[in-house]
Amino acid sequence: MADRIVFATGNAGKIKEIKGILGDLNMEVVSMKDAGIQTEIEENGSTYEENALIKARAVAAGAEKGDIVMADDSGLEIDYLNKEPGIFSARYLGEETSYRIKNNSLIERLEGVPEEKRTARFVCAIAAVFPDGRECTVRGVIEGRIGHEEKGSGGFGYDPIFYVPELGKTTAELTGEEKNAVSHRGRALQAMKEELLKNG
Ligand code: IMP
Repeated sequence: MADRIVFATGNAGKIKEIKGILGDLNMEVVSMKDAGIQTEIEENGSTYEENALIKARAVAAGAEKGDIVMADDSGLEIDYLNKEPGIFSARYLGEETSYRIKNNSLIERLEGVPEEKRTARFVCAIAAVFPDGRECTVRGVIEGRIGHEEKGSGGFGYDPIFYVPELGKTTAELTGEEKNAVSHRGRALQAMKEELLKNG
């Protein structure tokens, strides 16, 4: 197995979560910044998997020979809105627009829509490029419903409107640890860990 994983993110929270799940594989996990890699990446794929692969390949071009390079792409799919905002989740209403505005826009677009039609999911794809050029992608999903108002102050992004019926809470009302145990990203990371144990 390689001895280092370079993750294509500048987000310190994600690196912490990734270390928490992949940490016991005995491999160092570093961000692309820590690895001294800088690239401008255009996410122009049409699926989460394509976008994750585009990022992972771009970073792999600047990585050291023995590194495994990983990248993720995620988003929120709302069934009633034909799976919007989907791969455009970060760009919905503009990258700089606050999530208070984005969340309230989605609540408004679902006004009058009954509970059973408010189904939604967070999706996360993780791509890996291995030192021998092999590539793989995995996907994690968490199912929920869009709430009628923002609730909770944890998490980020669309968490305050993403209600998980089994937990009776939004993902913004979970602790970081509780969210990682059930989240799309947590599940994708677990699936990637199994890939590494099988084929790494
Ligand atoms: P990224 O691919 O990780 O950059 O995520 C894309 C976008 O999807 C984020 O900017 C958020 O809008 C949304 N998103 C992804 N994961 C989550 C989550 O766990 N909670 C809330 N929003 C999320």
